[in-house]
Amino acid sequence: MCGIFGCVLKEGEAAPLIHQGLRRLEYRGYDSVGFATISDGTLHMRKDQGRVDEVVGRLGLDKMPGSLGVGHTRWATHGAPMMVNAHPHTDCENQIAVIHNGVIDNFLELKEELINRGHVFESRTDTEVIPHLIEEEMKGDINIGEAILRALRRLEGSYAIAVVSSADLERIYCARNESPLVIGVSDKGTFCASDVPAMLPYTNKVVYLRNGEFAILEREGFKIKRIQDGSAVEREVEEVTWTLEMAEKQGYPHFMLKEIFEQPKSLRNSLRLQQQYLDLLTAFLDRGRELFLVAAGTSYLACIAASYMFSKLARLTTYPAISSEFIAQYGSSVGIDSVVLAVSQSGETYDTLKAIDHARMRATTVLGVTNTVGSTLTRVSRAYIIQQSGPEMGVAATKTFTSQLMVLSQLALRLARTRGKVSQDEVDDFEARLLEVPVYVEKVLEKHGTSIRSLVEKYSGERLFLFLGRGISAATALEGRLKLLELTYVPSLAYPAGESKHGPISVVEEGTPIIFLCPRGETRREIVGSIMEMKARGARIISVCEEGDRDIKELSDDVIEMPLGIPELLSPIPYIVPLQLYAYYLAVEKGLDPDKPRNLAKSVTVP
Ligand code: AGP
Ligand code: GLU
Repeated sequence: MCGIFGCVLKEGEAAPLIHQGLRRLEYRGYDSVGFATISDGTLHMRKDQGRVDEVVGRLGLDKMPGSLGVGHTRWATHGAPMMVNAHPHTDCENQIAVIHNGVIDNFLELKEELINRGHVFESRTDTEVIPHLIEEEMKGDINIGEAILRALRRLEGSYAIAVVSSADLERIYCARNESPLVIGVSDKGTFCASDVPAMLPYTNKVVYLRNGEFAILEREGFKIKRIQDGSAVEREVEEVTWTLEMAEKQGYPHFMLKEIFEQPKSLRNSLRLQQQYLDLLTAFLDRGRELFLVAAGTSYLACIAASYMFSKLARLTTYPAISSEFIAQYGSSVGIDSVVLAVSQSGETYDTLKAIDHARMRATTVLGVTNTVGSTLTRVSRAYIIQQSGPEMGVAATKTFTSQLMVLSQLALRLARTRGKVSQDEVDDFEARLLEVPVYVEKVLEKHGTSIRSLVEKYSGERLFLFLGRGISAATALEGRLKLLELTYVPSLAYPAGESKHGPISVVEEGTPIIFLCPRGETRREIVGSIMEMKARGARIISVCEEGDRDIKELSDDVIEMPLGIPELLSPIPYIVPLQLYAYYLAVEKGLDPDKPRNLAKSVTVP
């Protein structure tokens, strides 16, 4: 969850490219910024707390000299966001500069050892041990590449790093363990970055560094070695199909709004998956004695929705599990007969990767659904599916959430066919409706894409919202709440509606706005009862229901009408869209940046 960008050019200045690269990585974290460049045999470094454009403008970072350099946009894990803790960090002689994404678990003991050897530290970060370790290794009169390798072998924890030094005017040194790092090759020179969009203006030819690998970037190309023994690694260059435009805003004010409106397209892409991978995952899922759906945040809420689909369509009981709780909750009971389906759009979420590492140690079959080619999840999974959402730059998950549901729906459908637990007609009908989902979402966007703003204005002063739903709509309620919470910071609660009378109803007072999810289906009668219960306590009812649903409309203060014919089991996909829009427009109304909510990062790659 930070942004790393570096380049070693055949000609021209590196700093402006670093600036542009970091701007495309700000969604990964943005509390501090720093550059280090090499010019005339000297290391130049400037850094401070603040966002990329602000710090670059204030310190003149994009005027720093040299055709070789690195830059970092930070999301702090150790040491408050302030200049001294910003990256790069250097050795005692200011000859080696390091930028880092991740957490060095054993930094305290390394720091103590280095201080005892006379090293002077300036920051409170874990990262700063790295340049001092390299400096210490170089006292053994070895070249900087070998010194870095030896230093890396002392590190425990997660890292993606880039190192530049006045001791080597021609190279950038990179390494990766758990945190993502991508190399880009072009006729202009060689690049490294935390994620592909940062490099797209310069190249779409990339190589994904893998865990335990070390790379040397030169003007003409790169070399990869294994950290452990320094042995050479041959790696094919991949061509990324994402154009820069896909990663740009395309005229929308924010990435998040673009990505909400992109959903019909991303959903169609998620319907064009490689069938053999769907079949392979289905085969593994069908063999499991028990199936855990492991994820964090919005991806976890997609897993909750999927658990209803697997049960109703395939008669398969599944256990949605929060990644950070998985080991404590199930770690001692999973085994060779278990199957874990990990869902992670970044494929790099620390808690999810840690959970599946544990599962693999217990011989559990690990499968993956992710949006990121080359991500760690794709490498640790027995089989995986790329959900094909395209890059999602907004920190809040929108199109990747609905794509996850599309993939999980297709897996549930295949399992239903394989297990033959429901009638062929039911399965065929579900499949026909599944193909309609992008059209449902198109209609919702046409109807509510901007009109929902009037509802936002009506309730914009509210201090508390409740989101309630029954059945699979409980998952929709939870995700609608998470969107509002992470984008507008307005306190809000979400519960299965039947649960609200076991406590949450105590917060309801005269005028409290409650958003009910009321699709047609088997839970609709109960939801009417829940609405009545809340109306009796003075709540204002905002219902998301099928157009023309008179009973619900008569009970509601406001309605968000949805297209006819959406089956309840697929309703989370179209029904979440107005809630995404609501959260987006309320954030804008409050003068907040929907693409970069405070304290959040797009991919949480630290514990
Ligand atoms: C969702 O809006 C958040 N950005 C966050 O909860 C996210 O879903 C979570 O961190 C999981 O990320 P992943 O899908 O990349 O694993
Ligand atoms: N752990 C390092 C720090 O807190 C790196 C954080 C990051 O990945 O941005 O500075």
